[in-house]
Amino acid sequence: MRRFGKLDGLKNDEWERFTSCLHYLTADSSDAGEYSRVKESLASLNAGRGIGGNILFYLATPPSMYEPIVRNLGTADLHAPRGSGAWVRIIIEKPFGIDLASARRLNAAVLSVFTEDQVYRIDHYLGKETVQNLLVFRFANGVFEPVWNRNYIDNIQITAAESVGIENRGSYYEEAGTLRDMVQNHLLQVLALTAMEPPVLFDARQVRDEKQKVFQALRPIPPEQVREYTVRGQYEAGIVDGKQVLPYRGEKDVSPESRTETFVALKLFIDNWRWADVPWFIRSGKRLPERATNIVVQFKRTPHLLFAGLDPGIAYNSIVIRIQPDEGFSLRFGTKVPGSSLHVQPVSMDFRYDTAFRGALVEAYTRLLLDCMLGDQTLYARGDSVDTAWTLITPILEAWKTDPASNVFPYPAGTWGPPQADLLLETDGRRWRSG
Ligand code: BG6
Repeated sequence: MRRFGKLDGLKNDEWERFTSCLHYLTADSSDAGEYSRVKESLASLNAGRGIGGNILFYLATPPSMYEPIVRNLGTADLHAPRGSGAWVRIIIEKPFGIDLASARRLNAAVLSVFTEDQVYRIDHYLGKETVQNLLVFRFANGVFEPVWNRNYIDNIQITAAESVGIENRGSYYEEAGTLRDMVQNHLLQVLALTAMEPPVLFDARQVRDEKQKVFQALRPIPPEQVREYTVRGQYEAGIVDGKQVLPYRGEKDVSPESRTETFVALKLFIDNWRWADVPWFIRSGKRLPERATNIVVQFKRTPHLLFAGLDPGIAYNSIVIRIQPDEGFSLRFGTKVPGSSLHVQPVSMDFRYDTAFRGALVEAYTRLLLDCMLGDQTLYARGDSVDTAWTLITPILEAWKTDPASNVFPYPAGTWGPPQADLLLETDGRRWRSG
């Protein structure tokens, strides 16, 4: 265990105590016969350490192994809790399926062994402090919710930009692409938290019910409109953080003819009373100029442009929720520049976690793993919402595959994606707002 570095903030004796609790067993997880050894090992740890029969399985394996492992756990009867008050839970990493059919197959396989309340489909975005704070921001404050709707909001933009490339994950990324890797899970979860109705109680069922209603209200994009509502891009060589970087097609394990997207932008609508006709723009990409994940809530113009002739940009108020880095919120509004002439300029009121609170934010995984041990599924994706998210995403993937005229637009690494992503908004007179 000396191979692991001591976790920050732990004293030596705490670290020793922690590492003395770690054990491992090497086994071929595809071989059903091996699970009796796992069972014996768990039984002896349970007896020796007073674990109370609680077992958490965490599947961070290649996704193709999820089904066989779950089946083997069931056959070995490792899925059922033993003893009163004991629990057995299973965390399943993303990707949960690669399309609707495979996600349904996997869900059915998992639920043929475990019950839904034992299953924790992890999405690390839900564990981020700033993402959780979305609900507090919206529902613990009386001032934002009354304007959080189509009457006041013009559009909402969710951006997850990364300056990194695919980081030696060529084989995975070739199969996944940005729509599967970032949008189907992380960004749709963020969208659901931004759009959902207030739950009656803050518990797993109520919060996830409300999120599911948002997923159900997402307007499907018909195949013939996929070109109008989605933009795909792929990075070429360019300069990021002052360094020359390879094009996607030159990365290890990537086909030189690859059509996998490393950037995607979408225009979505949520067909319900709160959000009817408000466009939601989502974009995510690799090798963009910076790492920045944020939500921009763009308010409508003032009904009357009293200060017309001045910068029309100031007619827009916005709230920017910075998920990372520089975690915080800012409210942007126009103000008069001091002086005898009437000159209006946008300014921001800013809240930053690092100045308001001391100490580093808790890592998403730390929070999520602890929640699982405590039996709290609130920040985990429920089976039905994963299914509904795939119902939206799969037809887009199919249309991209079958429409020969559907383009993967190139963009130089270090830029904000292909210009077509700007047109997605500009055709309605809007533009992407930076954080
Ligand atoms: C992962 C994706 O789920 O999320 C990666 O597979 C991506 O491609 C990562 O880089 C982004 O996570 P974060 O927390 O750095 O925004």
